[in-house]
Amino acid sequence: MSQTQLNDIKQKALKAFQAAQNSTELYNAKVQYLGKSGALTETMKLMATLPKEEKPQFGKLVNDVKTELEAFYSKAEDELKNKEINSQMESEKLDLTLPIDIQPLGSEHPIYKVTNEIFGIMARLGYALRTGPMIEKDYYNFEALNIPKNHPARDMQDTFFIDETHVLRTHTSPIQIHSLENEKPPLRVIGTGPVFRCDSDISHLPNFHQIEGMCVDEKVSMADLKGTISFFVKEFFGPGLKTRFRPSFFPFTEPSAEVDCSCPICKGKGCSLCKHTGWIEIGGCGLINPKVFEFAKVEYPKWQGFAFGFGVERMAIIKYGVDDIRLFPQNDVRFLKQF
Ligand code: DAH
Repeated sequence: MSQTQLNDIKQKALKAFQAAQNSTELYNAKVQYLGKSGALTETMKLMATLPKEEKPQFGKLVNDVKTELEAFYSKAEDELKNKEINSQMESEKLDLTLPIDIQPLGSEHPIYKVTNEIFGIMARLGYALRTGPMIEKDYYNFEALNIPKNHPARDMQDTFFIDETHVLRTHTSPIQIHSLENEKPPLRVIGTGPVFRCDSDISHLPNFHQIEGMCVDEKVSMADLKGTISFFVKEFFGPGLKTRFRPSFFPFTEPSAEVDCSCPICKGKGCSLCKHTGWIEIGGCGLINPKVFEFAKVEYPKWQGFAFGFGVERMAIIKYGVDDIRLFPQNDVRFLKQF
């Protein structure tokens, strides 16, 4: 092993160190030359073959090359590591001044807020919550509510038909029948949910919500109905509001009435919401028609009852002064956040 050969190894090692593009390549080069079975270490092993007097000098030479290569290596390693950190920082750069994309928080939908509030009020009067299917049998939506086939009242309800015997329920009144069939009087139930009618304009949605109340007991009169609804209106809209009944017709109640409350916006003086009448219609009500009890196999007149049905969107519109019913199903957070 001559000095030239040693020099040759050194030059090759330096070249390899310089050529390394990243710390892995550099490390591999280090193993190749300075590692346990690397080129330089191999030359150390040749020492044994040298004459005694040449050993110290050769040993020193190899050691010097080793020290020099190690120094070069550690410098190159530092440089590469720095380069790598810099390019990593460059590629993962965060611009802390960029405006963040905040996901708006949702909020309770006014329809559910109103519904829950109504439940709260009615629960205090002993009413329990009931539901029913949205796809309803013709029997429950019409027949058992004393609306036979070809009855003109069916036309009032712009029905979506599923098939010969099923409809999308047009009102929550079928919940009354389910409850009468499944439970024993005395009963106080409140039902709610979406209802569907083939109708759409500034004050009508094809899919809206109703709330249905029913009380069945031994002696039930219009006075009980009026008292219950007046209490409910005051609790829901505010203490100063009045309630009035207008005679009306529903096949499932007799007598029937439409319920108006004095306009909560103008307090009865007249404004655009109440169309300058001072009154706003919120729904229908009446004493349960004996025919309905007959369909549901409930003994009449032992058991008598009243029922009422209100539009939930309507109540939300009145309570919050919303001027377009179509805003409710849009679910625009800017709208929903206001409630
Ligand atoms: N179901 C009726 C409708 O949707 C509203 C209604 C009227 C419900 C009178 C009742 C009631 O419970 O007694 O037009």
